[in-house]
This record gives sequence, structure tokens and C-alpha cells, in this order.
Amino acid sequence: MRLLVLTAGALWVRDGDSVDLGACALPGLIRTAVSEHPTMRVRQLDLPADDGEWAQAVRRELADRNHAGVVAARDGRRWQPKLTPLAETETETVTAPVRTGGRYLVTGGLGGLAVEIAGHLLAAYGVRLLLVGRSTVDGAKADRLAELSALGDVDYVQADVADAGALEAAVASAEARWGHGLDGVLHLAAADPTGQWAELERHTLANEAAATFAEQYRPKVSGTLAVAAVLDRRPDASLVLFGSVNGEFGGNSFGAYAAASCFLVGFAEYWRHERRRSVKCLAWSMWTDVGVNAGRPVEAARRRGFRAIDPDAGLRLFLDAMAAPGHYLLLGLDLANPTIVADLGPGGVHAGELLVAYAPDGVDPGVVRAAIAAGIRDAVVPVRLVALPRIPRGVDGSVDTERLLLDTAPGRRRRTPAAPRSDLEREIAGVWSAALGRTAIGRDDSFFELGGNSLRATRLLALVDDRLGVRVSTQELYESPTVAGMAAAVRERRLVNSKESAR
Ligand SMILES: NC(=O)c1ccc[n+]([C@@H]2O[C@H](COP(=O)([O-])OP(=O)(O)OC[C@H]3O[C@@H](n4cnc5c(N)ncnc54)[C@H](OP(=O)(O)O)[C@@H]3O)[C@@H](O)[C@H]2O)c1
Repeated sequence: MRLLVLTAGALWVRDGDSVDLGACALPGLIRTAVSEHPTMRVRQLDLPADDGEWAQAVRRELADRNHAGVVAARDGRRWQPKLTPLAETETETVTAPVRTGGRYLVTGGLGGLAVEIAGHLLAAYGVRLLLVGRSTVDGAKADRLAELSALGDVDYVQADVADAGALEAAVASAEARWGHGLDGVLHLAAADPTGQWAELERHTLANEAAATFAEQYRPKVSGTLAVAAVLDRRPDASLVLFGSVNGEFGGNSFGAYAAASCFLVGFAEYWRHERRRSVKCLAWSMWTDVGVNAGRPVEAARRRGFRAIDPDAGLRLFLDAMAAPGHYLLLGLDLANPTIVADLGPGGVHAGELLVAYAPDGVDPGVVRAAIAAGIRDAVVPVRLVALPRIPRGVDGSVDTERLLLDTAPGRRRRTPAAPRSDLEREIAGVWSAALGRTAIGRDDSFFELGGNSLRATRLLALVDDRLGVRVSTQELYESPTVAGMAAAVRERRLVNSKESAR
């Protein structure tokens, strides 16, 4: 059996597209149907706004008897959503995830992931938080609130995130108390879908009840719309949406959850491209130890290419994702897993990214970059600037776009770090590895370009003290932030120490 589902506006593909918020959850359902019925050919074709292109696009899809999944037709071409791994340098944290001292609303604020993230934001960035959840605060939730309150300024309001009036009232009253407007929202509220594990058959798309859809859509779909209504009145406030990889890959017996997560992706595209607002949609694999998957077996998810993430790794991924380019990021994918590999694109263009490739051709790259800067200053999507030895061209002289995308794919731009030159430098590089959680540290690599920040600097200097018995100051690290620079500082400090003890 073959099923072709036609939509328009379910996917954002390129500038000029507009997202239909009533249709953008559907890819999550289609992908679930594909995984629940591998022998059926279920496909969604998302048509362009121009209905003159429809007939040809539908004819082409009907002629293809093999593919299943989600595709889009635009400009006479067929587009298939593909994923692009972020290069190491792009995933390292260099900027703060929130405004220091900022005021944020966290929905589902006493949930597992929210408490981990809120705790860090309170301790490291001194934010003030308004948490919203439906429950009264007692038992474990009271302990969590007490934990957070010990770290900073936190308020909890009992409200349903889908109730736009209640949400607006809670935010307005928090703003009055803060004496300051809201800086952003972290939207984590979600209905726990894990009860479905006990009755998988009952939750396949063929059997699923409307009530499950209503339950899953309430926080993620109606909740996001209520959050958007709050943000409408606060044009500078940012939004972070928490979703699941199931939105991108579907979820066998979790179709409603997958569709609700997929809605978040479409909403993020709409919010970014049509409303020109600051937004990140983070689609997670599976956290261990906290949240709804705490204590669940990880094997099934691992087989699908979804890594188990412990809270420390999750927090790090959150910080890296907030600093990374792009507004839709999948976190916790195993890039060696065949299912995931099959979804990776040959290109390297992130959804909604502007790629500017240039060949300096003997001219100083700084001059070329300055010339380009004016043209890209107002770009509404992240800009990736790449220097190439030459721009690939076809026989007719036009730019070979496919080759260009391959040549500029982020994974290709690997650094070759300069190896440490002495035992001391090697020892220091080892300590940096431990502090930064990465290998291949070169002697001239800058701590900050490797993802160092003030928190990691504190950890690094404590490790140096512990392993080398030398106290390097923060100022020394900031002034000379390389392995070679630190080795010089350590040598100097040891010399001073030995002179002092000889006296
Ligand atoms: N944990 C994971 O492995 C994982 C994986 C992928 C994605 N995610 C996403 O990450 C987010 C957090 O997950 P989690 O594991 O931390 O979940 P969690 O512990 O269940 O937290 C979610 C919170 O949302 C609140 N909530 C539910 N419906 C609400 C509503 N209508 N209004 C207000 N609050 C509501 C719940 O509190 P009340 O019952 O008090 O309202 C709950 O504390 C979710 O969006 C989830 O989809 C998590």
C-alpha cells in the first residue's frame, strides 16, 4: 500500500516560505507511521505556496514508488530534510546562554531537566526565575524548589502553561516584583509520555486515542502558543523550546509525542523567519538520572542512534547548543549509527543558514571579509563565512553548488593542532583535555577558542594546582591562554618558588 499525504506550509525550506502552524506537527506523525509500518510506503509531500507548481510535483511523487518519509517541492525541485553535524569548533561554548542577571520564565520549572538547567543559570549567571508548573509544591518538588532557592531568586507559580491568561498574569506580577521586564522563556513543560511503554500496541497510530493527542498537545502546542502570546507583548524577549528527537525521527508508539515535538520545530521556523524573533528549538535524545527517562533502559534508544545523556553532559550540551549557530539543534545523536548517518546531508547548510564562500586569491582575507561584511550585516539567519582556495565551477563557468557545499561542510575544516614540545607542555595539554573534555589540544590553541569560559577556567586552574602543584592565576591564563603560555607561567612560578625556598 502507498499513501501520499499532501500539505502546504508544513515545512520551512527557504526564504519566502510561510509555516502553517496547523500543519507543521504532521511530519512527526508521518515519520512515526513510516517506522510503525515499514512495508507501507507512507510519504508526505509539502507543496509550495504557488499552486501552479503542484500538479508537476504530485505527478513526480506518484511516479516514485520507493521513497517513504517527508519531502518538499520548491522551485521545481525536490527537497529532503537532511541533518548537518556541527563542527567541533562550532559546538563549543563561547557565549553566555542567557543574559547575566536576566529575568526568565521557565515552564515545567520543577521538572527534571528544568531543575538542572535552572540551578546552573542561577549559580553561574545570577538570573531571576519564575517557574511555572501545574502541581502544588510538596514532596520532591518542595525539595527541588528549596534547592533552587538556595542558589538565587526563584518564584514558583501554579498554572497551566496552556492558559494564556494565567501565564500573562504570572509574568506581569513577576515583572512588577523584579521591577524589570522579562528577558526570555525556557519552555520545558511536557506531559510525561513514558506511561505508554506499558501498552505500546494501544499507542500505535492505528489505535491511538484522541485523548493522548490532547494530553501531549496541551503543554507543547497550546502551551507554546500561550508563551508566544506572552512574548508578543515583549518584543525583545528570547525563547528556548525543549523538544525531542522523536519530532525528527518519529517514535514507534509515541506518535502524539513525536507530532507535538515536531510542532515545536515548525513553530521555531515561524518565530525565527516570519516574526524575526530570537528562538532556539533543542531536540533531545534521552537524559539519564533526571527527568521522565530517569532509570529507563537506554538500549532501545541507543540502537536508534539516540545517546544517553547524563546531567553533566546534558548541561554542557545545553550551553554549547545555546552558543552554536542555527535555531534548530538535535542533541545527543550518535553520528556513527547507520540510521543517523542515512539522515546526514552531503551539504553542510544548516536550516536557514547563509553560506558565504570566498577565495581570497592573493588578497588579504581581512580585506575580503571587510568587503563582505556590509552585505551580510542584516542577514536574518546565521551567516557562515568560509575561505576556500578556489570556488568550484562547472564546465560552463557557473558555481558548482553541490561541490561547494561538500567543500565547505563543517566537518572538513579540521584543525591540525601544533603538538606540545616538552614534557611540561604535554602534561599541561593533558590537564586542559580533562578540563575541557576534549582531545587534540595544540600548544598554541587558545583556551577560549577551545570552549573555555570563566567556569571552566576555575576548574582548569584547580586541576593545574592539583596535578602540577603550581598556582597559575586567572589573569595569567587570560593574558596568555595557550598551553605554551601556561607552561611558561608554570616554569616561572617554579623558579620563583625554588629561589624562595633556597633563601
Ligand atoms: N527527559 C528526557 O530524556 C527528554 C528527552 C527529550 C526531550 N525532553 C523534553 O525536555 C523537557 C523536560 O523534560 P523532563 O524529562 O524534565 O520532564 P518532566 O520532569 O516531566 O518535567 C516536565 C514538567 O512539565 C510540567 N507540566 C506538564 N504539563 C504542564 C502544563 N500543562 N502546564 C505547566 N506545566 C506542565 C510538569 O509539572 P506539573 O505536573 O507540575 O505541571 C513537569 O514537571 C520536555 O519538554 C521534554 O519533552 C526530555
